[in-house]
Amino acid sequence: MEKLVITGNQPLGGEISVHGSKNAVLPILAATLLVKGETVLHNVPDLSDVNASIEILRHLGASVKREKSTLVIDTSNIVNNDIPEEMMREMRSSIIFLGSLVTRCKEALICPPGGCDIGVRPIDLHLNSLRKLGAQITENGSCIHCRAQKLHGSKIFLTFPSVGATENIIISSVLAKGKTTVINAAREPEISDLASFLNSCGAKIFGAGESMIEIEGVEELYPNSHTVIPDRIVAATYMCAGALQAKELVVKNVRAGHLVPIIPVFTEMGCRIYLSGNDLKLVSPKRLKRVKNIKTMPYPGFPTDCQSVLMAVLSKAKGTSVFNESVFDGRYKHISELRRFGADITVNDRIAVVNGVRELYSANVYSTDLRGGASLVLAALAANGVSTVGNLSHIDRGYENIEKNLSEIGAVIELSLIHISEPTRHLRIS
Ligand code: EPZ
Repeated sequence: MEKLVITGNQPLGGEISVHGSKNAVLPILAATLLVKGETVLHNVPDLSDVNASIEILRHLGASVKREKSTLVIDTSNIVNNDIPEEMMREMRSSIIFLGSLVTRCKEALICPPGGCDIGVRPIDLHLNSLRKLGAQITENGSCIHCRAQKLHGSKIFLTFPSVGATENIIISSVLAKGKTTVINAAREPEISDLASFLNSCGAKIFGAGESMIEIEGVEELYPNSHTVIPDRIVAATYMCAGALQAKELVVKNVRAGHLVPIIPVFTEMGCRIYLSGNDLKLVSPKRLKRVKNIKTMPYPGFPTDCQSVLMAVLSKAKGTSVFNESVFDGRYKHISELRRFGADITVNDRIAVVNGVRELYSANVYSTDLRGGASLVLAALAANGVSTVGNLSHIDRGYENIEKNLSEIGAVIELSLIHISEPTRHLRIS
């Protein structure tokens, strides 16, 4: 339906602001089911995944109103305990409704979630954790039936620090009877933001952001308002654009602490980073240097969500960089598209070797997933000539108005109606 048409190798500069975090607001939206009454969320980005969550809430009976980047959600009147398959398949985060729905309605009927095709994405950690908290769960192929009169506290050891499973456990435990301890919990900042929202509503969550989290069940939660943290992956993506094409770029509205895992990579490339309050100034060298080894890890390691966008940057760096994607087993689908720009990348299982080239050349490419799509936009910004990027519905899941924001720092990028065969972009929901 639409493509981005990008004239590459333009000098970028100035200031670009980061919107609210997709991966923070999605679990918080699911958690609003636990709070009978009106919740107000500020700094909510306008993304298709957010709109998919809004549609699920509306299907369940909640009213959701958007006023610019503020959502007013009233969950006083929940009338359904099922989520239709097409809604579950819209994104990965639909699975996070399981814990809040079974807590609110004592029953939940869902099916396996969708989400980016970045490898096998099982939900065993989610389901086994809910069972430990006292839920009866029956699965038959694409239908998952979950029941619990009242969930109870438990000690849960996660074999992998899964972000989503940690979020589902927290959400399922805040109104459970007794205490829950999560060992080997995910430590991502989005977990802490979920906990700070729930604690502001009266929950008792201790240690969010650490690998051991304790939740003492309470009787009831009370409506409150919350401002969502900035999106650290969008911030990193804009930093990549700056490293590639700007002498100097200011990325506004960041949380410096959330960027600690990625700043050393930018300095190893030869960039200089200056922090002042919520602003980050990036000064890049004439030619970027390679980064010897990048291994993606759970937070506070190098984020897997930054792997593809950094790869686009290192495609033009001086020297050879080696990636090890240790989190997902299928997160290199963007490489075949990056090669169309002339990138010199070889893959062997989880290892990708990037030999930096001096020039990238225009190409017509298609997004394979959310962050893979962002990496193609970055490569197009750095390529000689005019490129196009299709399958924009992937990019719209996590980047609000990417063409508008990038054009404000000098990119020559526009949306063009070219084919009618591709998925349409999401429409803003009022
Ligand atoms: C969240 O996905 C993020 N999505 C992902 O961001 C991010 O890449 C990922 O965490 C890792 O940081 C949202 O927050 C909406 P996981 P999630 O459970 O929760 C395995 C983006 O681009 N696993 O931490 O699905 C799984 O297969 C998206 O914004 C199980 O084995 O990630 C993977 O190998 C992409 N069983 C690993 O854990 C389970 O039950 C990490 O998955 C769950 C996960």
